[in-house]
This record gives sequence, C-alpha cells and structure tokens, in this order.
Amino acid sequence: MAIKIAFEKPSTQKTLCLGVYAENKFPHPTETWDQKLDGLLKKSIKNSKFKGELNQILSIFSPDGMRIFLIGLGKKSDQNEQQWQKVGSSVLEALGTSPTGEGSVEIYDLENFNNAEVAANLALGALLKSWRFEKYFTTKKPEELFSVKKVTILTPQPEAAEKAFKPLSQTAEGVFLTRTVVTEPANIITPDSLSKIAESLKKDGIKVDVLTEKELKKLGMNALLGVGQGSEQESKLVVMRWEGGSKKEAPLAFIGKGVTFDTGGISIKPAANMEAMKYDMGGAGVVIGLMKALALRKAKVNVVGVIGLVENMPSGSAQRPGDVVTSMSGQTIEVINTDAEGRLVLADALWYTQDKFKPKIMVDLATLTGAIVICLGSERAGLFSSDDSLAKRLNSAGEKVGELLWRLPLDEAYDLDINSDIADVRNTNISRGAGSVTAAKFLQRFTNDVPWAHLDIAGVTWAQKDLPLCAKGATAFGVRLLDRFVAENYEGK
Ligand code: BES
Ligand code: ZN
Ligand code: ZN
Repeated sequence: MAIKIAFEKPSTQKTLCLGVYAENKFPHPTETWDQKLDGLLKKSIKNSKFKGELNQILSIFSPDGMRIFLIGLGKKSDQNEQQWQKVGSSVLEALGTSPTGEGSVEIYDLENFNNAEVAANLALGALLKSWRFEKYFTTKKPEELFSVKKVTILTPQPEAAEKAFKPLSQTAEGVFLTRTVVTEPANIITPDSLSKIAESLKKDGIKVDVLTEKELKKLGMNALLGVGQGSEQESKLVVMRWEGGSKKEAPLAFIGKGVTFDTGGISIKPAANMEAMKYDMGGAGVVIGLMKALALRKAKVNVVGVIGLVENMPSGSAQRPGDVVTSMSGQTIEVINTDAEGRLVLADALWYTQDKFKPKIMVDLATLTGAIVICLGSERAGLFSSDDSLAKRLNSAGEKVGELLWRLPLDEAYDLDINSDIADVRNTNISRGAGSVTAAKFLQRFTNDVPWAHLDIAGVTWAQKDLPLCAKGATAFGVRLLDRFVAENYEGK
C-alpha cells in the first residue's frame, strides 16, 4: 500500500512542512511563514541543532496549535531531482509523527528551478518511501502500522506539477508491483502464480504469452527445464510485449531470472538465511514492473520482456551434479553445481529472445551470484556488457535515478575457466575466483553477439535497512533505472 498524493495551491494548513537550505537559509515560502509567525521559525532553529542539512527535521508548534516541520534541503548548490526526492522522503518521515496521517508541504521557489519539477520530485520521493507490505499482519494495532495516508504538495502551479508527476507515478506503480511480487513468499509466488500476475498486465495493453513445459521441451530448452525438474511446480517462460513504437522497429529486450525459490537443488544450500531465496525471482520481478511502467506511461518504443520461471528443489526427480543437458542453442552444459541454476535458466531465455525477436539490445537482470554481494555489497549492482555504448548509457541512467552500477570485466581469459571436460561448457568455474565474472561469461555464450548487458542484482534486490527512497525490504532496483534508460535513449526525449 502507498499513500495518496495531491497537488494544491497554498492555503491554510494544520500540519505543514517547510524547507530550509543548509546554513539555515530560507526559500521564499519559509521566509513568508516566518514573518507571519513573528520570527518563530528562526527562533526555534536558534534553540536547536537544526542546520538545514538533508534529512534533518525540526518539529515546531505555533502558538495557535499549527504543527510545522522544518525540513533540511541541503546545500543550494546540490539541488537536483534526487535531492528533492530525498526531501520528499523526509517529509514522509515527519508526517509519520502527525496524528492525522495527513499533512502539506510548501517547498517551492527554489532558485533557478522549475516549481513543477520540484513538486513532482518531492511527491515521488514521498510516494516511493511510503510503500509498505503489511497484508499479513493480523494482530498489530493501527498505530503500529504505517500511518501516513495523504501528502498534499502546495505549489503555485498545481496543474503543471500534476502533469510532471504523472509519468513518475506510473513508474512508481511498476516499482510497487515489483516490490510486491519480490516480497510475497514462495508458497504464494510460484512459476504458475507469477505467470498469472504477468498475464494480468494484459489489461494495461501488454501482450502476454505463457509457454508451458511441453512447449519449452519442443523448443529444446533443456537447460531451463533441468532446473525445474525436481519441483512439483511446472516451469514456465513468459513473454511480455509492449508495442508502443513503429511496427518495423526492432524491440529492446529485457530478460529476468525468475527462480521462485532457490534451495540450491541437490547441491543444497545451508539452512541459515535460506528464506532469502524467495527473492531469487527478483530479476523477473523487475522485468514485470518495468513492463507495467512502460505500458502505463505509454512509452513510444517496442519492448519485449522475457522471464524464465522455475523452482529449484531437491527431490527424486531433481537434476544431479554432473548431469549434461543440451540447451536450446545446441550447446551442451555440464551441470557441476545445481545451485548455479540462474545461468542455466538465462542461457535458454537469452538464446530464445535473440532468436525469436532479433532485438536491438538485450539486458538481463538476475540475482545471480553471492560473489557480487562480496564484491559490491548493497551499494551497487554489477554491470557486465559486450557493448561499451550500452554499458555507458545504463551507467548514466543509474546515476540519474540513484540506482548505481559498477562495470566489471568480460575478458576472454575468464572464459577458459568454464570449459568442461566432457561438454561444451560447465556451469561453475574450475578455479575459485571471480564467480560473478565467470557467471557472466557463461551467459555471454548464449547471447549470439547481440549487444548485451547483464546486471547482477543479488546484492541490491533486498535492503537490510531503510534506504532514502525505500523502506527495508524489496527495493525493485532496476525498474527506475531501465525505465529511465528507455526514456532517454529510445523515446526521442
Ligand atoms: N541465487 C543465488 C545467488 C544469490 C546469493 C542471490 C545471495 C541472492 C543473494 C545463486 O543461484 C547461487 O546460488 N549462486 C551460487 C553459485 C555457485 C554455486 C557457483 C553462489 O553464488 O554461491
Ligand atoms: Zn542457486
Ligand atoms: Zn539462484
């Protein structure tokens, strides 16, 4: 659930958030209020540690009972959309202490910036931070649950703000869908139920095809099918198509790892933290959310989203370490470790995508390796790409939305490490190092030289603590990045 956002012209308010720059300089509306309140704001600041730094909040009551929160805007010279989004998130935090669950924000006339953009980004920050997953709490009291219901952004141009906010809120809808499916446990999100959620995007104008095991077998997707063969759940491949561009234009393709639960299979994982493996479908979750965002904002581009959905379970019918499977590409794979399953799913999903859709580019997202968590932690996702321009443009989109990437190498020398003694390729490397790179090299063998990028999102899919624009839990990292990447590079904006 997320809050309601409204845009209105400034008027009398009971609970109001006002902005203050670093060094306690006031933007225009804050100055006006200070004069109306006989210098109360400046006096209150004097008696506090408040310095207008980003994320600082000072709570004040006026003599007639009006509640005012001063919100730090940070340095004037640092103002940009990400900063305003963070301010929006502070606003939400402040209003969380208000008993009504509602409040207004009067932050505009920031020097040299368009009021509509400022308002829209404040709103986006508050909205993204407000999302909560509380459906399974049955005994908590209302005050223990998230309490902010509505944020009203006061701005001299509410119509322009509304217009600027619309596409941002549509992208946020995609983010929320991703967060929901990633947070739901694996008894709820199975290959079948997730394919049905993808099918529900038909109402937004997306064409959806769900391929069954029988069809996948026919296509020769034995690498993907081998991963799911130990599970009671039927494996699926879902193809989502958004056709917002011209008919003859080749599509962009986004491919997601959708392991709805990763026990490791016969190479079973230790029990500690295994519950986290419900989010091993995070890549697929991002692709679903991205498709929704693109459809809602009617993106002028052709995009195909392909997700491979399987459950990796140990059982009498499970794949064994040492098994050899023939992938759709014809390449044979020796499955050394059944826990290196994501690359097996993606091998067939990537090959199918390039073969069927002849895309301009392919970008896959996967919670692929524990090694990327060791390497980059939760600050950045790993970026691997066969194409420098693609890598650069993804990096740049990430910087603009605050979803940071770090490019890692794909040297040919790493490729030797995954040659098998009895098949074309093995699914783990021979030496112990560079686990994320060798996983990416494995994927590259199934891209058929289409310009391709791989985002290893294992470390960024689930936040262990609150982030500026996301409460602890599923982040949907990748949805805003790819939405921006598409808008900036392929929609003529
Ligand atoms: N799903 C895991 C990777 C993962 C780890 C995702 C932590 C999210 C958080 C993946 O399937 C896996 O198990 N990879 C193995 C590969 C190894 C067996 C070569 C790993 O990283 O340990
Ligand atoms: Zn695994
Ligand atoms: Zn996995």
